[in-house]
Amino acid sequence: MMPKGVEQSRKPVIAGNWKMHKLSADAVATALSLRSLVANANHCEVVIAPVFTALKTVADRLEGSNIHISAQDCAPEAKHGAHTGEVAADMLRDAGATYVIVGHSERRQHYSETDTFVQRKTRAAIAAGLTVIMCVGETLEQREAGNAEQVVKGQLEGGLRELTVTDLVRIIVAYEPVWAIGTGRTATPEQAQEMHAFIRRVFAEGHGQDAGNNLRILYGGSVKPDNIAGLMRQSDIDGALVGGASLDPEVFAQIVNYDR
Ligand code: PGA
Repeated sequence: MMPKGVEQSRKPVIAGNWKMHKLSADAVATALSLRSLVANANHCEVVIAPVFTALKTVADRLEGSNIHISAQDCAPEAKHGAHTGEVAADMLRDAGATYVIVGHSERRQHYSETDTFVQRKTRAAIAAGLTVIMCVGETLEQREAGNAEQVVKGQLEGGLRELTVTDLVRIIVAYEPVWAIGTGRTATPEQAQEMHAFIRRVFAEGHGQDAGNNLRILYGGSVKPDNIAGLMRQSDIDGALVGGASLDPEVFAQIVNYDR
């Protein structure tokens, strides 16, 4: 557990991962209604992650608002070139994104992304000036076998390899137990807190106590308006990465404006 003053220097982040949802018109409509619903949310950074094709339109329409734009992925190559289907990190910047999610479990599971891949994406994103939301988390099988911490530690160390202290300030970690994503089964605040504290310890061991104290760690996995406040009361939970419940602006705004 962190001393009080230290905790307070970590501004919470509430991020909505829209995954592969919404055509442009719907994305803009959602973003615009969210804009007014969270206009007074100064207690946290509000982030939404639309699909690639809606990034620029949404970013343009939200200009001047307090909502930040994230991409859901980026190419591991920093240099433009023959990489069919990929989008480089500086192209995401160009489209108006300032954040990018890397290493989401859906990409690790369904698109065979390895820690090395995640690490290359992280480096490319940082080089382009993006803030990285790096996802880590164990499967149910791994948790039941007692390997959750070991898995998360491996993902963290693998994904963060070769980063400098200046790079690390642009890293946000999202702990998303795979068994809680889209299942309606959330980790209890205590389970999440335990893993968040562990992540902070691992980060501090690898990169120094200050880096550990300043790291923002988001929880993800079936976050809803009725469980966000309990999660946010935990000392090492600094925000949330929200999937399904971020698609409806009213519901996501309730999460952003959680009871503090
Ligand atoms: P969920 O997704 O909130 O729908 O469980 C979270 C995520 O995958 O980031």
